[in-house]
Amino acid sequence: MISKEQLTNNIPQHVAIIMDGNGRWAKQKGLFRAAGHENGTKAVREAVEGCAELGVKYLTLYAFSTENWNRPKLEVETLMKLLVKSLKKEIDTLHKNNIKLNAIGNLDLLPAKAKKELLEVIEKTQGNSHMTLTLALSYGSREELIKTIQEISIKVKNSVISPHSINEAVINEHLYTKTLPDVDLLIRTSGEQRISNFLLWQIAYAELYFTEILWPDFKQPDLFEAIYNYQQRERRFGKTSEQLS
Ligand code: IPE
Ligand code: IPE
Ligand code: MG
Repeated sequence: MISKEQLTNNIPQHVAIIMDGNGRWAKQKGLFRAAGHENGTKAVREAVEGCAELGVKYLTLYAFSTENWNRPKLEVETLMKLLVKSLKKEIDTLHKNNIKLNAIGNLDLLPAKAKKELLEVIEKTQGNSHMTLTLALSYGSREELIKTIQEISIKVKNSVISPHSINEAVINEHLYTKTLPDVDLLIRTSGEQRISNFLLWQIAYAELYFTEILWPDFKQPDLFEAIYNYQQRERRFGKTSEQLS
């Protein structure tokens, strides 16, 4: 088992997690899917605390995708209620631990109550600086890219920018993630090995880590294991190994 003390050097600046497997976790235990989501919130707390302790500056959690709106109405309602409940419960701890909450996604689609609660926590914690916790809610990377292209097109049309000045920085400035650096480590639980419309642009050079563990069972030692695994890799960014040393 990897301990926190073994991980001091080369901590990824930005960790993103596709928290998957709540439904299967519940099914294995003969419980309703809602119980899986409920227990998933405990794993969220573990991940937030673990990352904050290690000195990860940005943690981004995929909590609800644009495609998840297509789930049964009751499950969507359960997830939205759980969001409100968790925000209410965690606001003080987040604040006490100097964590800043941020959200990415089409937040206008959230139920009014969830959006209000979310914006309140964001507002209350906006001055915090130890770590930025970003919740991807009603988030889809393609939706984000469409919005970005539309906004940039309008600026081109109005001669605010020229087509030739569009570069990576201009695109970054229009994404929901404009205040976040690129992802260093992307973790997905539950054994699925796909991206599911998450941060397509931002993971261009991320290290990918897949684990069979279902999200409610993903505890701090599992997070430490993922980070240890990341630390053993050589990130070459197109260069040769010799160029790096
Ligand atoms: C992840 O768990 C939570 C959300 C997508 C909201 P799932 O609900 O997808 O769990 P599985 O994949 O059905 O096991
Ligand atoms: C991805 O999980 C979205 C979140 C974790 C919020 P899904 O369970 O919705 O992904 P797919 O549809 O199986 O790829
Ligand atoms: Mg799933």
